[in-house]
Amino acid sequence: MMKIEKISIIGGYGRDGKAEEIKRVDFYMGDIISIVGPTGSGKTALINDIELYADGNTPSKRKVLINDQPVPEEFSLNPSQHPIALISQHTNFLSDLPVGEFLEIHARIRRSENAASIVGETLDFANQLTGEAIDPRSSMTELSGGQTRSLLIADAVIIGNAPIILLDEIENAGIHKRKVLELLKKYKKIFIFVTHDPAIALSSKLRIIMGKGAMQKLVETGEDEQLAASKLQAIDGVMLDFRKLMRLGKEIGNEEVEDRIKQLVNPGKPPEIK
Ligand SMILES: Nc1ncnc2c1ncn2[C@@H]1O[C@H](COP(=O)(O)OP(=O)(O)OP(=O)(O)O)[C@@H](O)[C@H]1O
Ligand SMILES: [Mg+2]
Repeated sequence: MMKIEKISIIGGYGRDGKAEEIKRVDFYMGDIISIVGPTGSGKTALINDIELYADGNTPSKRKVLINDQPVPEEFSLNPSQHPIALISQHTNFLSDLPVGEFLEIHARIRRSENAASIVGETLDFANQLTGEAIDPRSSMTELSGGQTRSLLIADAVIIGNAPIILLDEIENAGIHKRKVLELLKKYKKIFIFVTHDPAIALSSKLRIIMGKGAMQKLVETGEDEQLAASKLQAIDGVMLDFRKLMRLGKEIGNEEVEDRIKQLVNPGKPPEIK
């Protein structure tokens, strides 16, 4: 199969029929990209165009190129060759298989050898993202939102081994953002996040700002924003820690929160992020 080095979007038209400001955008292997913009601005439509290999045949009239060429037929015809995994907002499983069995079947379909160790690796990966460890014996339909999303990300990265992964709003699922970004940076793939979260957007190389169904603006993350991103991730870590305590039924004191905020502003020792 053809090796993917680059994927490009050729701009089309916004909802009002006007040509998009952004005429072309290129993503390279290893890039983390964000798509941001108000509700209804066309973020989901943009990632759907990517997943569908739009070729002037969607409402936006955008085109998707792989390595500067129209997407080859081998990718469209054979679903197992599909290089794009979409982790969507709505994840209702049809399968009530136990998690372990589900992963094993997928692993055997994708790469016949050492299925067992790949399943273990996938579960490890998922468990680093979610606060609540996944029991491989529990059924897929029993998983929480955060566990489900974590498992799907792990499955796409490790078992599916997809070179291009699209993630629609993972922030509401209670996933550890700093860990997701850290883990994903180790893989040479293209990750495209639809997000409302500045901690994720500023950790990307590039963000596309959507408006009225069109790509309005591209912003590359400069050095100052990269520093800002690490602060925002630290704030996120604090929120996650308190969320955990709150969920466990603990009372959270004003002073405790104040201390953590002070620590963020003036970190004598690094705050403990579990
Ligand atoms: N370029 C376009 N041309 C025509 N219709 C479009 C275009 N872009 C988006 N739309 C339509 O506009 C509506 C809103 O777009 P979309 O669902 O992608 O917004 P969103 O940014 O994902 O919103 P949310 O933040 O609520 O998820 C959809 O019905 C979509 O099909
Ligand atoms: Mg959407």
